[in-house]
Amino acid sequence: MKKIDIIHGPNLNLLGSRETEIYGTESLESINSYVNSAAEEYGIAFDFFQSNHEGQIIDRIHSAENNVDGVVINPAAFTHYSIAIRDAIAAIKTPVVEVHLTDISQREAFRKISVSADVCVDQICGFGKNSYFFGVEALVGHWAVNRIRTENSSTPDNDKLLRSVVEILHESFPKYDWTGIYLVDGDALVLHNFQGAPSPHTRIPIGQGICGAAVAEEESIIVPDVNADPRYLACSIETKSEIVVPIYSGKNIIGEIDIDSHRPDVFHKHDQKFLEQVAAVIGEKWK
Ligand code: SME
Repeated sequence: MKKIDIIHGPNLNLLGSRETEIYGTESLESINSYVNSAAEEYGIAFDFFQSNHEGQIIDRIHSAENNVDGVVINPAAFTHYSIAIRDAIAAIKTPVVEVHLTDISQREAFRKISVSADVCVDQICGFGKNSYFFGVEALVGHWAVNRIRTENSSTPDNDKLLRSVVEILHESFPKYDWTGIYLVDGDALVLHNFQGAPSPHTRIPIGQGICGAAVAEEESIIVPDVNADPRYLACSIETKSEIVVPIYSGKNIIGEIDIDSHRPDVFHKHDQKFLEQVAAVIGEKWK
């Protein structure tokens, strides 16, 4: 079982009573139990820690290296000036995700800067308690990217590589109900391999559907509610949300990762970020 340490920085012990107009009325204990239940299906064991003291947070980060598989940290005010916490994160091999309840880019000038975000695998802000849950998902995504690299380290053929990617992603995320890869073939996308229920859309003209739009527009597309998007081509009546991420080989789009979920609004920037890393691994290994 994977283990994650959730580290809360200074003043977060006062959540629920401190500046409630900014931070809400929920206590830290309630946020911790939310993370436990929201992430239950990932089968991860969580440890929780809060400190108002920089040195204690640094010690906890150091001990993460031998004790857990990942860290989600809300460094709170230390975010903006603690080079010592930044250095502790950079010193360990364990992946760390920085999270904030509020969107720090929209607050006072002194809160816009994070001295630690660039040594973390991702930074997630502005989703309240869901920032922590999304931080957990960002770590699951990071582990999946590493697994894809490791399991395909000995130059696999394209077919084997694409099958491995779909298998690892589908297995890592219970919310991914349909996970597939389409390859560009002339002016269409052709379904290469997938996990989930069979799709009627095995060939999609570029420019049509969400899939065709992502290639035509050369960018990842997140659709929180497929029924509200006129471009959507239905693959299953159960699908509620979708993400499509183009795969590049050099400057050319050679295909895309397409994922559907039966749950609404489950794809966010952190999914896009690690799926773009997966697409980059495919691009690097493409023959
Ligand atoms: N929904 C996609 C079609 C493919 S299925 O989701 C697998 C689209 O709108 O392009």
